[in-house]
Amino acid sequence: SPSDPDLVERARAAKEKLGDKVFVLGHHYQRDEVIQFADVTGDSFKLARDAAARPEAEYIVFCGVHFMAESADILTGDDQKVVLPDLAAGCSMADMATAEQVAECWDVLTEAGIAEQVVPVSYMNSSADIKAFTGKHGGTICTSSNAERALNWAFEQGEKVLFLPDQHLGRNTAVRDLGMSLDDCVVYNPHKPNGGLTVEELRAAKMILWRGHCSVHGRFSLDSVNDVRERIPGVNVLVHPECKHEVVAAADYVGSTEYIIKALEAAPAGSKWAIGTELNLVRRLANRFAPEGKEIVFLDKTVCFCSTMNRIDLPHLVWTLESLADGQLVNRIEVDRETEQFAKLALERMLALP
Ligand code: 13P
Ligand code: SF4
Repeated sequence: SPSDPDLVERARAAKEKLGDKVFVLGHHYQRDEVIQFADVTGDSFKLARDAAARPEAEYIVFCGVHFMAESADILTGDDQKVVLPDLAAGCSMADMATAEQVAECWDVLTEAGIAEQVVPVSYMNSSADIKAFTGKHGGTICTSSNAERALNWAFEQGEKVLFLPDQHLGRNTAVRDLGMSLDDCVVYNPHKPNGGLTVEELRAAKMILWRGHCSVHGRFSLDSVNDVRERIPGVNVLVHPECKHEVVAAADYVGSTEYIIKALEAAPAGSKWAIGTELNLVRRLANRFAPEGKEIVFLDKTVCFCSTMNRIDLPHLVWTLESLADGQLVNRIEVDRETEQFAKLALERMLALP
């Protein structure tokens, strides 16, 4: 069983044997049984920065999903090895934009005569290939904690933005933070010829949103917001910007996982909160803040864990740490040099955002 005290002891012993050679990063959506072994926890932005700030660690064990481990590999030194405890820990949103589809989209924009005005902005939740495309075309990466700054920067470089692959984060940031209208945004569907858009629509748009979404956050609905407000009078609704626009528009607060944690830390005793993000994090926060008299509930009980985040469990972590402690390098995530070079450009533009 994952909470098996024997496994806990084995993870602890292997980590101790590795000492400073290993650095364990844990995304906030990871299971408690894994998070207890993280040297640092964070949102996607913080983890990317922290991975880059550990040049002395030979092994970076990334408890998160594949695109995060790729980003860590891109940002760390060549002699540092990034390890993902279960190679099946992908992200359905990142899979919604492939290199071929994005290259085809760029051809469509070129044929419409607008490619020169377009700056790509790609969400961290994308493959290294998409990040490389972004770097090559003068764009930047963003996370949910700096999307507003990334978009402002992009609109200083060009007149239009191609936002990949999360349409919701793109739309929410454009409308909520940059004051655009919904009509300024169009959705490019990679499964339709010309993205399902006319040349006129492409030319008129300011934000070209890729038709991708998070399978977890996409399930929160306006009904879940209305229901919780009825059930818990005075509740504060706090959601992640990967939620649909109508959910974000009805919420009281919106932000990244790190923002959500900070907001709850600052919340007064007796306050009530409904949180729209992944369940591992919401449960951990509910337990952590209950003794302080803060009531924290999950926004919608029908939404479940992120299944790929949950693939990293204690047995996989134990196997990884014991293998590394025995001198066996397992599950290394390594981005090829050319991809890395251009993806790094895009990631460094993000890290340099004002
Ligand atoms: P953040 O931790 O950056 O808010 O990202 C959320 C997410 O969905 C990661 O997969
Ligand atoms: Fe991907 Fe959504 Fe899971 Fe994050 S929560 S890893 S965006 S599927």
